[in-house]
Amino acid sequence: MRALLGMIMLAGLGACSVSKQEPAAADLQWAETSRPLEAQLAERYERSCMVCHGRNGSGAPLAGFAPHWKPRLDKGIDQLVRHASDGFNAMPAMGQCNDCSADDLRALTLFMARSGS
Ligand code: HEC
Repeated sequence: MRALLGMIMLAGLGACSVSKQEPAAADLQWAETSRPLEAQLAERYERSCMVCHGRNGSGAPLAGFAPHWKPRLDKGIDQLVRHASDGFNAMPAMGQCNDCSADDLRALTLFMARSGS
């Protein structure tokens, strides 16, 4: 009986460590409600990046959700910005923001990865 309980608890712990990769309600809310501070950048963000990165399950790393961004940041920020500019698998070139400058793409990437402005 004791062993069975232990197994159930271990199974529970396993499920817990997996679910940490899943955004909680607060993470989803951050992604839905947060914008870059600067007004023009926020406007560009709303009509491009946010469409995919602002909600979970689109295949895009969720804005502000560290477990989605950490492994990507390990590639280096320059590589991420290059992928934002050139496209990367289902990530469209320029993130569908045709008037975004290279600086904008960098700022937007840093914003979503929450490692900058
Ligand atoms: C049409 C949906 C869509 C839009 C719009 C979009 N993205 Fe993405 N983005 C994706 C998807 C899907 C991925 C994951 C691609 C993969 O890893 O296969 C991604 C991944 C990324 C990555 C990580 C690339 C890497 O090397 O891991 C960055 C950075 C990024 N997007 C930046 C942006 C920025 C900045 C914008 C707005 C200017 C934007 N995205 C708009 C869908 C989108």
